[in-house]
Amino acid sequence: MADLTVQRGLEDVVALESSLTFIDGKGGRLIYRGYDIRDLAAHSTFEEVAYLLWYGRLPTRAQLDELRHRLAALRALPPGLLQILDELPPDSSPMDVLRTAVSALALLEPAESQPGASSIGGALRLTAVLPSILGYIQRRRSSKLLPSIPPELSHAAYVLAALSDRPIDPLDEGALDVALILHADHELNASTFAARVTASTLSDLYSAITSAVGTLKGPLHGGANERVMELLDEIRTPDRAEEVVKARLARHERIMGFGHRVYKVEDPRATILRDWAHRVGTAKGDLSYFERLRKVEEVVHREKGLYPNVDLYSGAVYTLLGIPKDLFTPIFAVSRVAGWTAHVLEEYQDLRLIRPMANYVGPTDLSYVPIDARA
Ligand code: CMC
Repeated sequence: MADLTVQRGLEDVVALESSLTFIDGKGGRLIYRGYDIRDLAAHSTFEEVAYLLWYGRLPTRAQLDELRHRLAALRALPPGLLQILDELPPDSSPMDVLRTAVSALALLEPAESQPGASSIGGALRLTAVLPSILGYIQRRRSSKLLPSIPPELSHAAYVLAALSDRPIDPLDEGALDVALILHADHELNASTFAARVTASTLSDLYSAITSAVGTLKGPLHGGANERVMELLDEIRTPDRAEEVVKARLARHERIMGFGHRVYKVEDPRATILRDWAHRVGTAKGDLSYFERLRKVEEVVHREKGLYPNVDLYSGAVYTLLGIPKDLFTPIFAVSRVAGWTAHVLEEYQDLRLIRPMANYVGPTDLSYVPIDARA
């Protein structure tokens, strides 16, 4: 209709009320259930954050222990799934395998995939099993078996153990844990929106997460950090950053890891990951990624006035942890599944079709309470 205004990309459209996550795009703040991401990244773990997203409050020590036990008990891959995955072409993209695996699980685990099923069980199962699927993908292409991994490991350590036989360095575990916390939710981003759209038709949780994985795969959403690493490969040394970046801008190419639909200042996740890229790089005696990225930041800000987003430093951190480039987006899914499932459960409570910005109705100034002091 001629007199209707079309909001391309649904930009600035407020589609629903949510009490999960608030993005303060002008102030550069990200809040999960009232808690500032900087506090969560500094003090909590991915498991605490997943609990916070699902249940709306930080867990007590006993609740956290119970969650970790439940996740540990849900990590195994069913034999039927292994058969399906073994049939897939060996050079399949890990995101395609992940999407297929989630979809196949729905058939193998019908209890959680009933239309409208809203139990937390499916959320726990998918969160527990995604790292095992990644481990299987990585082991299969290197012709190795997924080792038996001690269940008491943290979620971040389990991911590292699933991907590599290297002994787990506590700094690596801490870095990955923070990356998982930072990626766990982000309001109505495209993949979460896709999940909620699917759920809002009264479809099942596994279908919603299949939609989300397919949506995350796109380079404007989940794949940007991989492309940042390609840029760094081309730059080679910091002194070449200016020339390479300017040449790309002259060709009207986008510089990945910069700009954001909602943040008008620096993405707070980028600030935290920059610090971790420096810490991990220093510990490993390799600041080459960090130094190139700092230079790229300087040039992009000067030339375009753009700020870094979460993807600028995450690829460097993952590379330093020994994670291959094509698993960066699957790692994003390993974290974001907590947010996707929390959004789907919220959607089932109040079924409405939706999109882009949420009218946040939760608190924003809660003080982080250390786990041992919680009631
Ligand atoms: N490099 C160069 N120019 C850019 C960039 C960039 N990274 N981002 C935006 N611009 C320019 C764009 O060309 C346009 O300029 P003009 O008005 O002259 O045509 C202007 O800024 C506005 O861009 P837009 O595409 O209308 O803005 P958007 O809100 O639709 O884009 C974005 C958001 C993230 C898609 C975009 O900034 C982008 O493509 N960034 C690179 C990809 C990237 O890093 N993606 C990860 C996003 S963070 C992940 C997450 O939160 O889940």
